[in-house]
Amino acid sequence: MTEKKGLYIQMFSIHGMVRAENMELGHDADTGGQIKYVVELCNILSASDQIRKIDLFTRLIQDKSCSEDYAQPIEQVNDRFRIVRIQCGGKKYIRKELLWPHLDEFVDKTIKFIRLEKDIPDMVHGHYPDAGYVVMELASFFGIPLVYTGHSLGRSKRARLLDQGVDISEMNRKLKIDHRIEMEEMVLKSADRVITSTRQEIEGQYGLYRNRTLPAYTVLPPGIGIERFHPYYHDTFSNSREKEEALYAKASVTQELNRFFTHPDKPIILVLCRPDKRKNIQGLVKAYGEDAELQAMANLAIFAGIRKDISDKEESERDVLTRMLLLMDKYNLYGKMAIPKQHDFEHEVPELYRIAAEQRGVFVNPALTEPFGLTLLEALACGLPIVATNDGGPQDIVENCKTGTLVDPTDTVALASAIKDIIIHPDKWNEFSKNGILNTRKMYSWERHAHSYCDEMKALCHQYGKISIPDNEPRQSVGKRLAKLNYMLIADIDDTLLGGNPEELQTLMDLLERHSGQIGFGVATGRIFESAMDILKANGVRLPDIIISGVGSRISYGDSLDNDKGWGTHISKSWTPDLIASRLEEVDFVRLQKANVQGPFKLSYYMDPGKDRLAKIHHILNKNRFRYSLIYSQNRYLDILPYRASKGKAIRYLSYKWGIPLRNLLVCGDSGNDAGMLKGETLGVVVGNYCPELETLRSTKQIYFAKKTYAGGMMEGMQHYQLIQKATGGMNHDN
Ligand code: GLC
Ligand code: MG
Repeated sequence: MTEKKGLYIQMFSIHGMVRAENMELGHDADTGGQIKYVVELCNILSASDQIRKIDLFTRLIQDKSCSEDYAQPIEQVNDRFRIVRIQCGGKKYIRKELLWPHLDEFVDKTIKFIRLEKDIPDMVHGHYPDAGYVVMELASFFGIPLVYTGHSLGRSKRARLLDQGVDISEMNRKLKIDHRIEMEEMVLKSADRVITSTRQEIEGQYGLYRNRTLPAYTVLPPGIGIERFHPYYHDTFSNSREKEEALYAKASVTQELNRFFTHPDKPIILVLCRPDKRKNIQGLVKAYGEDAELQAMANLAIFAGIRKDISDKEESERDVLTRMLLLMDKYNLYGKMAIPKQHDFEHEVPELYRIAAEQRGVFVNPALTEPFGLTLLEALACGLPIVATNDGGPQDIVENCKTGTLVDPTDTVALASAIKDIIIHPDKWNEFSKNGILNTRKMYSWERHAHSYCDEMKALCHQYGKISIPDNEPRQSVGKRLAKLNYMLIADIDDTLLGGNPEELQTLMDLLERHSGQIGFGVATGRIFESAMDILKANGVRLPDIIISGVGSRISYGDSLDNDKGWGTHISKSWTPDLIASRLEEVDFVRLQKANVQGPFKLSYYMDPGKDRLAKIHHILNKNRFRYSLIYSQNRYLDILPYRASKGKAIRYLSYKWGIPLRNLLVCGDSGNDAGMLKGETLGVVVGNYCPELETLRSTKQIYFAKKTYAGGMMEGMQHYQLIQKATGGMNHDN
């Protein structure tokens, strides 16, 4: 909020297992790099004085097979940073592809959280399309900017899997790939900013989307842990235990390499990657194997993941490793090429870069495609020059750091000569090494990342604030308004709000206008949305905050937003209108209403009263095991709705989602389809001109039967419950 200093950012990374300490990276496909990145980002941002508060929202998991940490609703990481866990789709851990149907639940509970905290974020940032969907909803409710990071994109994945021969229907069944892509399209449509790690991502990946041109993009490479990757020539470890571990790691890496090399003091050509075909290890072995000069001047060391037994590896990895061994044999590289089996990432990897740098070697990334290239940055930070594939991330790295050589990875001759060029020219090596050390620190530290992020986001929020206020009447976003309101008047339209004396209606409108800061205004009607809007407009009724239409089968906010998707998803359960309609064809005393009053969640008939008629309908529907709610009103309308829908249920949902207590909702109606919302904890008002079917409510607690009719009856009810005095804290007496 404007009066508070610094930004309040809400981050969303929903799937996987998220906690601040001891992240279980690699536990499964959903708990990996994204989680580490998001937690590190939040951590570093929380140290910035530009940030007031940062909350990372993720899914709450209460599952015996997972740590209890993930069941904790709030994890206070530091003064300004919390991890907030929201339950959706049950308690068990489930993979991300199965979360789609539960995201509306996540949205609703987040809104409730925001409401309870009484603090609306300045912006929301979603990671991956599941969170993208959630922030899309939140951004539109609260009228705040939406920032998106895809991390990986469905269209690229689909293309890659197609290439590998995976069937589309299989991809949809298992990965819900087409649904994911549609969601990504929607998110791109509403995103104000997309953050990528490299320039290539924008064209090469987002470029595949229909809505690619709609958002603005910002390239913000993630930071690397610069302290771990200190330069080879000095040691910045302050703590002596750590130093011992580093020395140990260095000794064991050296011993390991010495087992392979006949001349261990030659410069090392270092490769470090997963045994993945796309990493093109064989290309490099070939380049080395075919160049006797290169073999004479340098050794080759390949660290391709951890392995015990190649034959235990999964097929594609086994294939890569076997080919590597066969090439080593073919070119007779014994004594010159090292293929160590294991490494300890935490301690050995930085030492490895430093050993190679001390021996004036080169780090090579010969991958066919490389979206980012973290290892290149790590090597550079240690002072080891690089030769890298001329693709994606490395292009940015070489440009930003002014170091290293880019080559076409399929051209083995070019690859070999690029490596030689650096090894035989000490001046070049020195310059590359120095630029790598200095420029990674300048361009790729987390501090720098946080700084740029804050600057960008501040500008975005500022700009957004300017454009979202229209020239005439500045209308607050519905979310900001509803999160503040504590009282609400909700009225049926036909024969309650409308139908009586126009002057009384005007008086009521004036009253609501005067107190619009304290009392919200909603309608709940049997009409479908469009027809409700038309009649309200024709009668000069002010635009409601909330419109419950189609007998509770749709909830909409003002005229700016479409329907509440959370409600739509919630009521869609077990709803089979076509089957119900076909069963009711055999009933001769009901007649379907016109097509233009039917809705996706509303099936309406006409029915004259008659002995046992309702019982007969229930009998048919139950016999067929349908789930439904049935509402009969005014001796003529028969509405069949999903079992979770009705005006009354819609009001309870709103009360829950927006945190407005039911006893602060004053509800007015005249007929049978209003009964559900009049009953219970709400403050009920039945206007004087009510239908006889409501007579049974007379004995019900907290339902006031007004003497006056229509809008006049509503005002009488407001007076009876002293709504205005309550809402204004007793400051007002004009009611
Ligand atoms: C409105 C609707 C109608 C519905 C009735 C009762 O008149 O147009 O479809 O059946 O309200 O809810
Ligand atoms: Mg009515």
